[in-house]
Amino acid sequence: MSAGMPGNTLCFFINGKKVTEHHVDPETMLLSYLRERLALTGTKYGCGGGGCGACTVMVSRYRPETKSIFHHSANACLLPLCQLHGAAITTVEGIGSTKTRIHPVQERIAKAHGSQCGFCTPGMVMSIYTLLRNKPQPSMDDITQALAGNLCRCTGYRPILDGFKTFCEESRCCQTNGDANCCLNGVKNGTETDAVKPQLFNKDEFLPLDPTQELIFPPELILMAESEPARTLSFVGEGTSWVCPSSLEELLGLKARNPDAPLVIGNTNVGPNMKFKGVRHPLIISPTRVTELFQFSQTPNGVWVGAGCSLSELRSDLEKLYLQLPEEKTEVLRVLCQQLGIVGSQQIRNVASLGGHIMSAFPNSDLNTVLAAGNCLLSVVSEGGRREIPINQDFFVGLGKTALKPEEIILSLFIPFSRKGEFVRAFRQAPRKESAFPTLTAGMRVFFCEGSRLVQDVSVYYGGIGPTIVSAGRTCGVIVNRRWDEETLNRAYDVLLEEADLPPSAPGGKVEFRRSLTLSFLFKFHLEVMHKLREMNVIQDEPQEELQPLPKNIQPSLQEFEAVPKGQSQQDPVGRPIMHRSALSQATGEAVYCDDLPHTQGELFMSLVTSSRAYAKITGLDVSAAMQLPGVVDVITAKDIPGKKVRTLMGYDEELLAEDKVLCIGQMICAVVADSRSHAKRGAAAVKISYEDLPDPIFTMEEAIEKSSYFEPRRVIEQGDVSSAFASVDRVYEGEIRLGGQEHFYMETQSMLVVPVGEEKEFNVYVSSQWLSYTQAAVAETLGIPSNRINCIVKRLGGGFGGKVTKPAILASITAVAAWKTNRPVRCILERGDDMLITGGRHPTLGKYKVGFMNDGRIVAVDFQFFINAGCTVDESVVVIEKMVLHMDNIYNIPNLRGRGSACKTNLPSNTSFRGFGVPQCLLIVENMLTDVAAVLGHPAHQVREINMYKGPSVTHYKLTFSAENLHRCWDECKLRCEYETRRRAVEEFNQQHRWRKRGIAIIPVKYGMAFAEGFCNEGKALVHIYKDGSVLVSHAGTEMGQGIHTKIQQVASRELQVPSSKIYISETSTSSVANTCPTAASFGSEANGMAVKIACEILYKKMEPLRKKYPKGSWESWANAAFYEKISLSAMGHYRGPDTHMDWEKMEGMPYSYFTFGACCSEVELDCLTGDSRTVRTDLVGDIGRSMNPSVDIGQIEGAFMQGMGLYTRGPSQYKIPAVCDVPLQFNIYQLQDSDNPHAIYSSKGLGEPFLSLGSSVFFAIKDAVAAARSESGLVGPFVLNSPATPDKICLACSCPLTQKVPTAQPGSFKPWALNI
Ligand SMILES: Cc1cc2nc3c(=O)[nH]c(=O)nc-3n(C[C@H](O)[C@H](O)[C@H](O)COP(=O)(O)OP(=O)(O)OC[C@H]3O[C@@H](n4cnc5c(N)ncnc54)[C@H](O)[C@@H]3O)c2cc1C
Ligand code: FES
Ligand code: FES
Repeated sequence: MSAGMPGNTLCFFINGKKVTEHHVDPETMLLSYLRERLALTGTKYGCGGGGCGACTVMVSRYRPETKSIFHHSANACLLPLCQLHGAAITTVEGIGSTKTRIHPVQERIAKAHGSQCGFCTPGMVMSIYTLLRNKPQPSMDDITQALAGNLCRCTGYRPILDGFKTFCEESRCCQTNGDANCCLNGVKNGTETDAVKPQLFNKDEFLPLDPTQELIFPPELILMAESEPARTLSFVGEGTSWVCPSSLEELLGLKARNPDAPLVIGNTNVGPNMKFKGVRHPLIISPTRVTELFQFSQTPNGVWVGAGCSLSELRSDLEKLYLQLPEEKTEVLRVLCQQLGIVGSQQIRNVASLGGHIMSAFPNSDLNTVLAAGNCLLSVVSEGGRREIPINQDFFVGLGKTALKPEEIILSLFIPFSRKGEFVRAFRQAPRKESAFPTLTAGMRVFFCEGSRLVQDVSVYYGGIGPTIVSAGRTCGVIVNRRWDEETLNRAYDVLLEEADLPPSAPGGKVEFRRSLTLSFLFKFHLEVMHKLREMNVIQDEPQEELQPLPKNIQPSLQEFEAVPKGQSQQDPVGRPIMHRSALSQATGEAVYCDDLPHTQGELFMSLVTSSRAYAKITGLDVSAAMQLPGVVDVITAKDIPGKKVRTLMGYDEELLAEDKVLCIGQMICAVVADSRSHAKRGAAAVKISYEDLPDPIFTMEEAIEKSSYFEPRRVIEQGDVSSAFASVDRVYEGEIRLGGQEHFYMETQSMLVVPVGEEKEFNVYVSSQWLSYTQAAVAETLGIPSNRINCIVKRLGGGFGGKVTKPAILASITAVAAWKTNRPVRCILERGDDMLITGGRHPTLGKYKVGFMNDGRIVAVDFQFFINAGCTVDESVVVIEKMVLHMDNIYNIPNLRGRGSACKTNLPSNTSFRGFGVPQCLLIVENMLTDVAAVLGHPAHQVREINMYKGPSVTHYKLTFSAENLHRCWDECKLRCEYETRRRAVEEFNQQHRWRKRGIAIIPVKYGMAFAEGFCNEGKALVHIYKDGSVLVSHAGTEMGQGIHTKIQQVASRELQVPSSKIYISETSTSSVANTCPTAASFGSEANGMAVKIACEILYKKMEPLRKKYPKGSWESWANAAFYEKISLSAMGHYRGPDTHMDWEKMEGMPYSYFTFGACCSEVELDCLTGDSRTVRTDLVGDIGRSMNPSVDIGQIEGAFMQGMGLYTRGPSQYKIPAVCDVPLQFNIYQLQDSDNPHAIYSSKGLGEPFLSLGSSVFFAIKDAVAAARSESGLVGPFVLNSPATPDKICLACSCPLTQKVPTAQPGSFKPWALNI
């Protein structure tokens, strides 16, 4: 079986070009092959585990049996190269390019402003491209399904959906869905004024989709499939061999001789286990050419389906089948189809096989519970023969284990037809509605005696309450032979509670919730069957309300913005919705990110070794085994650092690499450099570190408070006399709320490439950093050389969100040490898991408050305490605390206000800046306090907010004067636009009519201080050159990370120089072009650097004045050319000093901000009280963003920030799930406040990257409102605690429904929780 033998040649096509490989390592996935071998870097690495869709490609195959070509999307990160024999792969580069012709899919996502940082864009493009290849006129549902597995962290998905919606048939309709005003009813939608409202894009300009233009399937592959004789394919790699047998007989022989070898079809379980858990397989068997595994045959009693079928194919085959059968026969088939449509994402389902799924034996499988409840059978074979075994509780014997003998394989699955009087249902609850493993699943079946409600047979299986799926046999025992009614159900609950008993510290946590869900699912099953029986006239009694699924149809949304003033020159782009300047390159995969830079001669890869202990002495570091491994070149430790071994921030030192002691799990200890990514990773895994644990690590904020473990200084601001004010109020209330942390989840993980230039200790550092000069200084200090030898360069980031301000400096410094020591270029691209472990995120926060108020709702005094979990080093935690106490007034004039903020020092990875910088946490605490006041008084929350708002000319608690006028305008307009009062009443009506569904609505305001409070960070810098041909090169200090800074800067230069934007180019940001840069953060980058560019352009425009006068008939190009001959330098530096903000913490006063951005947002949600699931049905957001420089970029920032905020307040930090397409508010309206001037910023604009993130909390408070409605059904009124994020478990338990109340609560302290609440 050695490589190179006949039969061992892999032949496939990529983008129409034939690829022939003789030496393929079975561990090579298509993604690394594309990126590293073929330099096709358009396909991105985002997670490596099938979870983000950034690596989506299209796989096409020819099927000789049906003589048809079949296209499907797949995740290249999980697609073994060896699997691709005979396939044609299409990547984003294969469908269009800016050099030739862009594809309509690429054009539409770009022009509809669906690409910000662009890292997710090629994946989005390929998912929709594949959909259109199969269905040129898809429905909106097809589009959302196709994108369910594609994550985007920048946009709010709305522009992506809007762009792709133009492919749908129905997009020709106004999309008010046939209601009274719908264009289909002959009504012209909208008013006359609507007709002239500016639009973000014009779909009439789009290229038509022409399927005849697509790449054809290679005829050679058709010939190959038709004529190639069946033969074994085999490949041998460094540690793994791959065999693809050509017959069942050969497969069984191989399995008999190699019982431990896995059968790999989809590789969606084996692949992640190899990659992330280090599982090694000397041999992998790939049975994709064993035809018996792919057969489908119908019998009178059911259907046999081959175990090799992909989940997508199976779904489509079963769907076709059940449509032909009488309904009563289709119960199992239908429910299976429903579940097959929800497993993972479309990319996963397209490759994952049925056999692979069953054999993976996940305890929370979406399918196995249904297969078991539905009485399905397996046909298993080995060389010893064939047998049939039922899928039931005896089949799954442990976590990932089944009763199959090692040499046996599953050949096929038998799905029986249901009988008259038989009902089957499945239920699931997952942390995210789509593309997420479920927390709990259930498959249930009941069979009634003919024409009656007497139960003849019943079967109930749960997944997610133990190491295997479990049968609730005893519960079924109390149901069988009884009437299907409430009495039986109540008995069943009691037994189920005993049977599905989970100890309070059970793995997976959320014990109360999971136990409550077991009851809820049974209740739902009961109700659905009752309705069926009623429908069939078997019973006469009227069951409770029928449970409907949460709404999911996306509605048309509005994005309203201000038109440019009449008379503005057509050439002047400022104020117009100009497309992101790199959007087309991003959509075609041409945009270059750090890891896309070509590999250079001798380049090495670096992998980090991190601590597995939270607080320990390092007693030994043994790198000998790692050094023996193939490809490993060196191991870098702290001893190798030639210069400073620590980074100093706020007076605290942070070790680059731990030497003697570790302070948290994930702290970096050493780094392995090797000739390839996989060798470096293997080397890192082989480093042995011994530890001696140190006593009393601190993890939680409570522990830190108890032990006074803080980073100094702690901050306090007080106005009025808080303590004595409490004596004069009608009521006093004390409350608290916790917020979990938040993972940045920028789609591009931290990336750097350090290249020694070769002489005089010069280094080029390519780094995905928001603060290049900080990284430059860190690298220089670490290497002990001056900064002038280090050139830090960044073209663009695949998202930053604050996570790439300080952390890249440390990572780049370690990478630089490796490059220094080996004198070779070194690349370090963090794996997603390492990135999440090492780099920290948003600070978990604890907010406590004591509030004194009058009976009319006026708040007289508040005493806040803010604690954040900083982790083991200070990073920017003290500054985060400062921003919290500066924003604790939000928009409220509270005469006596005190806030104390402390950054807790704990043994967790160090947290860092994150979009909003503490304000989102602070705002939630403040608004929760107001919600509590309203609940105590029984007043509507919005009224309590209104009573307490700043009015007219106002002064903050740190004595900064401002006008509250625009704040009120935003609030009033938001209330008007969202029809608040009417919808509030509609929500109340809805809640009266529904017991298990509740709606909630909330309107939340924000006031956000703009600029850095540290005045020195507000500088902007730029260097502008005009070349002889009239082309302009702009360099500035800001980093492009999707926020459109380069686009806005281009608009500024175009206006100031009075040349078309096409003349202006922005290549990259580098410390050798612009020195001593400030961080691109605090929503201030475009403003500060825009001003610097404006200043530079003004200088240049003035310099050209004599030429314009001298040659009045000349052109821009001729003046630029003439300047050279007349010795006029056309290079200029622009320097913008920025506002001199300051804060005196002793006096508790200052001017930490230049101005405020205001906004208000109303969200409405619907809840399923039985499962805690929710859906945001509508959001209306009004933003005061001044005179927008670019409405499309700004609306994109607002929507993206809102979604990120919604994720902060509604998604959990554990198994972090960022919002996906399924989470977009069904109607998502954004309105720019009109006629708002801002004398403090360029062109009267306002900073806006961060403020609107906090408005995601409107969803949290809408949920809280709905929960309050659910609680009132159980007689619970008044304030209650709902911590953030409002995950389904918290929502469900807070609703306190009768079923939840049945579950006993374990007393805190009486058990060891599975996870700590940090
Ligand atoms: C990102 C992601 C999201 C997911 N989401 C969900 C979800 O929401 N719900 C859910 O239930 N599951 C989910 N899954 C799990 C997924 O359904 C399974 O990983 C998949 O079905 C396994 O099939 P496969 O062909 O890829 O298996 P492989 O990884 O190829 O193989 C898995 C195992 O099955 C064995 N095997 C395969 N075929 C046979 C056979 N015919 N006979 C004997 N043994 C065989 C192999 O030896 C191997 O041990 C998700 C997975 C991923 C990666
Ligand atoms: S799904 Fe492949 S990189 Fe994320
Ligand atoms: S544009 Fe989608 S991740 Fe940045």
